[in-house]
Amino acid sequence: MTDVVTYTRHDEIAVLRIANPPVNALSQAVRQGLSDAMDRAESEDGVKAVLIVGDGRAFIAGADIKEFGKPPMEPNLPDLCTRIEASPLLVVASMHGVSLGGGLEVALGCHYRVAQPSARVGLPEVHLGILPGAGGTQRLPRLTGAEKAVEAITTGRHIKAPEALELGIIDKIEEGDPETVGLAYARDLLASNAARRPVSEMPNPQGIDWDATHAALLKKGRGQLSPATAMRAVQAASELPFDEGIKRERELFMDLMNTDQRKGLIHAFFNERAVSNLPELKGVAPRALQSIGVIGGGTMGAGIATACLLSGLNVVMIEMSDDAAEAAKGRIGGNLAGALKRGKINQEKHDNLLSIALEVSQNYDSLKDVDLVIEAVFEEMDVKKQVFAKLDAACKPGCVLASNTSYLDVNEIAASTTRPADVIGLHFFSPAHVMKLLEVVVADQTAPDVVATGFALGKMLGKVAVRAGVCDGFIGNRILSTYRAVAGHMVLDGASPFQIDDALTDFGFAMGPFAVADLAGLDIGWATRKRKAATRHPDERVPTYIDRLCEQGHYGQKTGEGYYIYEKGKRGGTPNPKILELIKDEQQTLGITPRDFSDAEIVRRYMCAMVNEAAEVVGEGIARRPLDVDMTLLFGYGFPRYWGGPMKWADIQGLDAVLADIERYGQEDAWFWQPAPLLKQLVAEGRTFDDLNKEAA
Ligand code: CAA
Repeated sequence: MTDVVTYTRHDEIAVLRIANPPVNALSQAVRQGLSDAMDRAESEDGVKAVLIVGDGRAFIAGADIKEFGKPPMEPNLPDLCTRIEASPLLVVASMHGVSLGGGLEVALGCHYRVAQPSARVGLPEVHLGILPGAGGTQRLPRLTGAEKAVEAITTGRHIKAPEALELGIIDKIEEGDPETVGLAYARDLLASNAARRPVSEMPNPQGIDWDATHAALLKKGRGQLSPATAMRAVQAASELPFDEGIKRERELFMDLMNTDQRKGLIHAFFNERAVSNLPELKGVAPRALQSIGVIGGGTMGAGIATACLLSGLNVVMIEMSDDAAEAAKGRIGGNLAGALKRGKINQEKHDNLLSIALEVSQNYDSLKDVDLVIEAVFEEMDVKKQVFAKLDAACKPGCVLASNTSYLDVNEIAASTTRPADVIGLHFFSPAHVMKLLEVVVADQTAPDVVATGFALGKMLGKVAVRAGVCDGFIGNRILSTYRAVAGHMVLDGASPFQIDDALTDFGFAMGPFAVADLAGLDIGWATRKRKAATRHPDERVPTYIDRLCEQGHYGQKTGEGYYIYEKGKRGGTPNPKILELIKDEQQTLGITPRDFSDAEIVRRYMCAMVNEAAEVVGEGIARRPLDVDMTLLFGYGFPRYWGGPMKWADIQGLDAVLADIERYGQEDAWFWQPAPLLKQLVAEGRTFDDLNKEAA
């Protein structure tokens, strides 16, 4: 036996209790402990049944993800599940909290399953780039049928106990202490002479249209392999005897285990959690947060207010006029109506949030009691400074004063107040009640407990909060402007915007940069180009063909025409032929002979530009660790999760190869392609970005 599995006897029943905090992951010690305890139960006189329960907050949250990628250690999980199922004793699982992945597979290896009403089960392995590899793809469909099993396994969703009962995944729901409930159930089963009931001996599920389902899953996964591959394993459950199905599951599991996607997704899993663990905040208590002020009720301010209200915070919103206040209320009301429709809140909560928790005022005095205030007004330094002067006068001592600026200098904003230590940047992404990313921008004088409060707010709002330093665009928008620029260069040199968008969506991005520009509004980039024209370096290449379209009043989706033409009522647009003409004119003016680009070259240049700028951002300390960049791009910029982020992508490609390409591109455009010193240093030292993450942990 091991420390993490204890064995106790209750008359004819042996209780195996797993205690491996925080979530009872199936580490080698747990697997060994369960296997040894099964041996003991079978060897002791008088034992007729085994009950498996979990200690603490969950039954079992799955295989121990920290062991992935390391040499396998016996006993392996599939053998353990088979061993449990093959026991001559009656084996019962009593499940509470979550039973996920290998945790559900252990339960499926048991002969009977009882769960708490609040329990959740699921096979979320596809989100880690793998598939349920301990019989889950073979046993689940024998209980639920193929279609339901494909849905559960390819979405990886958590299934609540009542639905799990309906689907046949569990046999009974009973509230109470899991061990007491499990013992009572086992006793009833013994009393009624219930037979062992191995799922592997149940009939094969009927087939579905496998090829059509596979094609649909590939399309939906935008390049992610695990859902479609997991479906093939369920197909084997339908078509092969159990033992052969298990072999097929293992082959497909190993195929996925060896993919870069598995590495990327597991990097994302751990770093999504690690990103808010800042060594500098250890032992620093955040300030209390109950009520939040929001200045400005436009799309962004209304989204921030909505996110705060939905998280149980009171909101005081400041607007400038009756009309603006009404419009802001309308926007927040619209957002909350959406939450009501999606079942996130009920009607009573919805009404209370609007009538009690929200106050819209035109008077800064209404902010006197708020704990933190977020300014979301027009993106201009003078306007921000005026707002911060008013906040400085109106807010109580200790109130955190935050700006939602997306690129302005937070030091300059802080310096315009008498309390720069209380000033911070909190950069939300639109729509702020939906997007997961929050950049916590730390200025030179920001107090540590103000930083901790920024992270505490992020946690309350369910955001992924990332620490950023002050520079133009912080982490995300600064890197965006560089990879956006290289897309522009490729257009000038011969790749069409449509080919670039297609190549990047094939790579896994939610949208290509030109479709994004249409969505954001082409007038935004146009204004920035005009603003920056006077100070631009003479060697900087900036395409201006799209300005011709803006001059005609076409700003993208909102006007129906941009890079694409949008028809009312239709999703997405069709390529705008005018664009190709405008590009041709500019190429002629500049004397450029267009050339062909392969999709692979487009992706490589785009990614190299992203990685190089990201390495600058880390090298300058704007991002403390490469993982901060990865999480910023994943949660704010539609970067494909299965690549783990640009830094993980670069590690997987090999930093030396990435640097070599950057140097090669630099022969065409030495101003743009200057290799980042940090990238050069890591290559010279034979280290990776992930090495830096580990050193910072
Ligand atoms: N292995 C190792 N560590 C795990 C883990 C696992 N399966 N699941 C969670 N943890 C760790 C987390 O990394 C976190 O560690 P830190 O505190 O050091 O950051 C800690 O447990 C708590 O996790 P959360 O912060 O996520 O806590 P939560 O309450 O918000 O969520 C959870 C709990 C729902 C279990 C969530 O952690 C989760 O979804 N875990 C992953 C579950 C999963 O994917 N299981 C399948 C594993 S693959 C498998 O089983 C393969 C197979 O068939 C062979």
